[in-house]
Amino acid sequence: MRRVDIALGERSYPVFVGHGLLEAPSAWADRVPDAPLVVLTNDTVGPLYLDTLKAALGDRTVHTLVLPDGEAEKSFDNYRRAIAFLADHGVRRDGCLLALGGGVIGDLCGFVAATWMRGVRFIQFPTTLLAQVDASVGGKTAINIPEGKNLVGAFHQPVMVVADTATLSTLDDREYRAGLAEILKTGAIRDRAFLADLEACAPALLDRDPEALEDIVARSVAHKAEVVAEDEQEAGVRALLNFGHSFGHAVEAHTGYTRFLHGEAVAMGMVAAARLSEQRRLCPAGVADRIAEGLRRLGLPTLIPADLDVDALLDLMQLDKKNTTRQRRLVLLRDAGDAFVDAGSEPGQVRAAIEASQG
Ligand SMILES: NC(=O)c1ccc[n+]([C@@H]2O[C@H](COP(=O)([O-])OP(=O)(O)OC[C@H]3O[C@@H](n4cnc5c(N)ncnc54)[C@H](O)[C@@H]3O)[C@@H](O)[C@H]2O)c1
Repeated sequence: MRRVDIALGERSYPVFVGHGLLEAPSAWADRVPDAPLVVLTNDTVGPLYLDTLKAALGDRTVHTLVLPDGEAEKSFDNYRRAIAFLADHGVRRDGCLLALGGGVIGDLCGFVAATWMRGVRFIQFPTTLLAQVDASVGGKTAINIPEGKNLVGAFHQPVMVVADTATLSTLDDREYRAGLAEILKTGAIRDRAFLADLEACAPALLDRDPEALEDIVARSVAHKAEVVAEDEQEAGVRALLNFGHSFGHAVEAHTGYTRFLHGEAVAMGMVAAARLSEQRRLCPAGVADRIAEGLRRLGLPTLIPADLDVDALLDLMQLDKKNTTRQRRLVLLRDAGDAFVDAGSEPGQVRAAIEASQG
């Protein structure tokens, strides 16, 4: 078991990472507040892990709200449903919410916790790789509205995160690999040695080897912890975590959010951003190929499909011709493991990078 502390003064909290933490709760169970507890989960994760979580909580009274699975459920309707559930069960300011699931459940539960009675405590039990290394740490909470994803939200830090890597054994392959993309991103933006270690242990990670997973998840969380501690509200360095996301979001949006998982689109986006960095001579030649090779080893796509329309992608990145005076900021690389925010890319350069990244 590894412990990483998120240092945010009086809002500091521990992240426990380990194989089997739900079944063996001694490290964390006594930190669960002695207060009314409400678990929020979904109908995929609940049947798999709810009983184990409840057993870990002993004879405490726990109310559970099980929502349908899916990104579409990170909705205002379910927010209202959760709020009504808390009201019905008489949960007051001393209550504590428990998010058991991936980033969808974590974001929704966090937003409910941020707003119920002007803010109550909550604990994250992330069960996807993406949620363990990214979504559960850092206090960003949100719901989607028809006008866009994550448009309504709040910064609200959990009081603890318990990342049981054993839960990842039931995660489907694509979801698992999408999480690996976000981990590689961490190496690409701030830790060259971590990137090399990831390349080296790719086979073990693809086998979901418990030791490799615990090490890599804990090191990813430690990186996120540093970034969040430095920039809790995303005014500066935290923006680097968006590496690959501008291109990736355009790919996701252009394909209707159905063809690719977010992590897969980010994988393609990272290679495109690295190509742009190379083409603008901001970073040495070879970095984009290196990142692409790392992603390939982790079973991730590295090319933007050739059937996607470049103009549409540029448009979605707000970098089409109509927008030349409003250049969008992009996270680019000085080298593998060294990212920065740049606003100097001309639309023609971004177009060339996309074209060079298609296949
Ligand atoms: N708050 C943040 O900082 C932050 C960061 C990144 C992403 N996000 C958000 O996270 C969401 C994506 O998170 P996600 O990728 O975890 O998606 P998700 O929560 O939809 O989970 C993916 C799928 O895996 C299932 N699942 C979860 N755990 C499982 C397990 N152990 N075994 C089997 N199936 C399991 C889920 O039910 C779902 O079907 C998005 O809404 C995104 O906006 C938030």
